[in-house]
Amino acid sequence: MVNQMVDENMKFSRVKPDVFGDAHPKALLKRIQEDGDKLQILSNQHIVAADQFDAETLLQLFRLASKYESNPSRYSNPLKGKILISAFYEPSTRTRLSFESAWHRLGGDIMSITDRATTGIAKGESLADIGEMFNNYGDCVVLRESNEESVTEMTSTLRIPIINAGNGTREHPTQAMADLYTIFKWKPELLEGNGEKIRVGVIGVPSFMRTVRSLLKLFALFPDMFEEVVLIHDAEDKDMFTPGQREKLEAKGLKLTTSRKLDDILPTLDVVYINAIAWVGDSYEEHGTRFKLDKNSPLKKDAIILHPLARGDELSTELDETPHNWYFSQARGAVFLRMALLTCMVERTERVLDVI
Ligand code: CP
Repeated sequence: MVNQMVDENMKFSRVKPDVFGDAHPKALLKRIQEDGDKLQILSNQHIVAADQFDAETLLQLFRLASKYESNPSRYSNPLKGKILISAFYEPSTRTRLSFESAWHRLGGDIMSITDRATTGIAKGESLADIGEMFNNYGDCVVLRESNEESVTEMTSTLRIPIINAGNGTREHPTQAMADLYTIFKWKPELLEGNGEKIRVGVIGVPSFMRTVRSLLKLFALFPDMFEEVVLIHDAEDKDMFTPGQREKLEAKGLKLTTSRKLDDILPTLDVVYINAIAWVGDSYEEHGTRFKLDKNSPLKKDAIILHPLARGDELSTELDETPHNWYFSQARGAVFLRMALLTCMVERTERVLDVI
């Protein structure tokens, strides 16, 4: 007879708790007509900044992401035989692991670098030369690097695509794509062009928070769906935007306002996006830490909260069990969004189009 020992303290449940926001990826399939040509364009593009995209290409990516999310086991190996070089020279939980999860889920193989000191950079090798080597070893590069120029430096020699996974204070385009994908899943009616508009509050500083900077660029591709985007901050007004940044967004039709009073604005917002961290040099800075969301915050009943994470005290865990929590769905959906983007960038789109 087998003597079975069960330590009750070590037991866990495999039942996934309800995560708000996971319900509706299929709604995007109904509302966005498939157009493979828009996705084929991505096969010879590096992805460095959010404003490289047009609205239609993004919608096609969201459609493919929602196909993956609706039926994850249907697509097991479109990237079979392809190798991803995952180079993260800055800390990351979500971006690195979700890119790597996305690639694995599509059947590809991965080489991962998590410390620049283990590469030839430690011997003074240029990024351009490392890029030349990457051409021989892999089919796609994902790079996170504090130096804002590194990703562009590598594009000079790369003949395989590179994706910017966060470059200092500059850009984080795939995070912004995951954020917008979440908003469309939450309210697919926004795609119907029937005049429905939302009010969004962004707690953050667009001049030096890469997530906020990239997100506003994507919002500016869909200006008609926003009644207003309110930037909530305690930075000096002169530090809020880089020269010309606000003007460029407004020229595209995005209605931007600013406020220093979170609780006055909260009751008017449909979407609250919060972030308190900017990665600067070799460390992070916290900004706007006096702005906090918790269960007593005067949120609209149906408002959703997004956060690119990692979170600090600005977002109370009390909100995790409420329907306002779409930040976990946002992080989960990023895997499917990245699956869609990677498929297109390594010329495997034809393997997944027209597959229901
Ligand atoms: N959102 C985001 O960039 O998280 P990580 O720093 O964990 O990758």
